[in-house]
Amino acid sequence: MKDRLVLGIETSCDDTSVAVVAESGRILSSVRINQDKIHEKFGGVYPEFASRAHIFNIIPCVDEALEKSGVTVNDLEAIGVTSGPGLVGSLLVGINTATALGRSWQKPVIGINHLRGHVRSVELEEAEITYPSLMLLISGGHTMLCFMQSRDEFSVLGETRDDSLGEAYDKVGRMIGLSYPAGPMMDKLADSGSPTIKFPRPLLREGYEFSFAGLKSSVRRYLEKNPDYVQEDVAASFAASVIDILSFKLEKAVQEFAPKGIIMVGGVAASPPLRKVVQDLCDDHQVSLFLPPIKWSTDNAAMIALATFDYLNQGIDSPPTPRYRLPVNAF
Ligand code: KG4
Ligand code: ZN
Repeated sequence: MKDRLVLGIETSCDDTSVAVVAESGRILSSVRINQDKIHEKFGGVYPEFASRAHIFNIIPCVDEALEKSGVTVNDLEAIGVTSGPGLVGSLLVGINTATALGRSWQKPVIGINHLRGHVRSVELEEAEITYPSLMLLISGGHTMLCFMQSRDEFSVLGETRDDSLGEAYDKVGRMIGLSYPAGPMMDKLADSGSPTIKFPRPLLREGYEFSFAGLKSSVRRYLEKNPDYVQEDVAASFAASVIDILSFKLEKAVQEFAPKGIIMVGGVAASPPLRKVVQDLCDDHQVSLFLPPIKWSTDNAAMIALATFDYLNQGIDSPPTPRYRLPVNAF
């Protein structure tokens, strides 16, 4: 049987990305232009510059994705575009492009929830998630733990009360002189440091909610008091605190919900030490671990394209309207 094909467009934050993906998860092409050079001096994403860069990058990305895929527009069934949550100016560039292409190619254009895209990133290329599973989404925009009975039925167990985990990595990284996005470099430094500084573990034993603002402030106070700090030790101690918090809550949820697996997605799920700790936890409890390949952990259009099939198969008519936030129980 012929594999159905979709073109995906993702511009919710600072990566312009376009991909052609088959329903089986096979990636025919995926093009991504990141804007790290533009935002690094600001220590985070500068929304106005992000949308301007998307405008320059989006058409070259579409052209390249189509060319690399080896298929023609006629082979595509639909266009899926991230409609939120995300930066409205950035979302609009993707949505307007998708809408214009849809009109001229006469293809349906479907607005896709970015968070569902992250969940589906696990199933790009090969893996298939077994449900029920716990789902930990840790990115620059979100931190949430859900219990998913299926791809479409789930309950949110907890979210962050303040900063997302990715934001905490980026801000702590900035305090110790790293440029945006600091996550990968924090990992490298932590690898050669020792976790000797006792940073707090906020909300450790209080249900499934998270809070990272206090941890970040505690790092700031430590740096002010210790101007000769060792960068590697600060990174290792911060990572130790994060790992304790995540593994404690996952462990508690595994005991309470007895899932078949743990799904860990979002940019921070690219962190090798975190992947290792969660793998050990899964081995101890004999549950499966569902992780996206590292390169599909951060934002990409391939995951958005794959999620488009969920909407197509259920006949969900989701207009591509930009949404800064979406109800958390609706992905
Ligand atoms: O999922 P993502 O690309 O964008 C959002 O949807 O927000 O996540 C970006 C976040 C950034 O905060 C970045 O620092 C973090 O993911 N990140 C990492 C790693 N790679 C990216 N954090 C920790 N370790 C990494 N290796
Ligand atoms: Zn994301």
